[in-house]
Amino acid sequence: MPLNPAKPVYAISLNLVGFTLKGQNLSSQGFNVRVFTISDLERVMHINAKCLPENYSSYFYRDLYTKYPDTFLVAEADGEIQGYIMCRIERGWSKRGKLSAARLAHVVSIAVMEKYRRRGIGKELIAQSMARARRIYDCDEGYLEVRVSNEPAVGLYTKLGYSKVKRNYGYYLDGEDAWVMAVNLDEF
Ligand code: ACO
Ligand code: ZN
Repeated sequence: MPLNPAKPVYAISLNLVGFTLKGQNLSSQGFNVRVFTISDLERVMHINAKCLPENYSSYFYRDLYTKYPDTFLVAEADGEIQGYIMCRIERGWSKRGKLSAARLAHVVSIAVMEKYRRRGIGKELIAQSMARARRIYDCDEGYLEVRVSNEPAVGLYTKLGYSKVKRNYGYYLDGEDAWVMAVNLDEF
């Protein structure tokens, strides 16, 4: 069949416009957030090992992905995954002082490769994951633990509306304390 270059080019440019205007995936800051798939596992484990002392078996990642796929996200830039977030959906007491049961989106781990920090990737990963936890898993609150010395992460969470609700003494294996920080998911 003879090629008709006009048609495909037209279709592609239309798609690009729609993609950019919607702004759902391709961010203007030059990164793209999407859901995790199993073929991303090796790279995500690599990022975790580079960025955090809390490391997990591949079973642990697979288990979280199988149970809560919609809040396990990755961020791509320069053709490679540079950040991830993974969550567990739990039922428990509100962490925010309300004497009521709640559906909680527990951020188990988030990290962004050092070279790609301070571009808004961490913020976007949390914002999208929490919005999905609210919409898809019907969660009321988000919460997480973070080392009290981890100023970048505490700064990020505070900026997104999380507040410190409790100090867990000696929470980490090396004896450091954790802040428990929580947020109402109506914010997302
Ligand atoms: N110092 C102070 N505030 C900071 C810093 C910093 N180094 N980094 C981010 N913030 C705050 C700022 O308010 C920032 O907004 P601004 O840049 O407009 O000032 C805001 O957070 C958003 O920053 P992002 O660019 O979205 O965050 P980034 O993509 O750099 O990722 C992260 C932040 C994930 C904490 C990154 O520093 C990282 O991977 N650190 C190592 C791993 C880690 O500590 N993960 C969290 C462990 S706790 C847990 O996983 C539940
Ligand atoms: Zn935790």
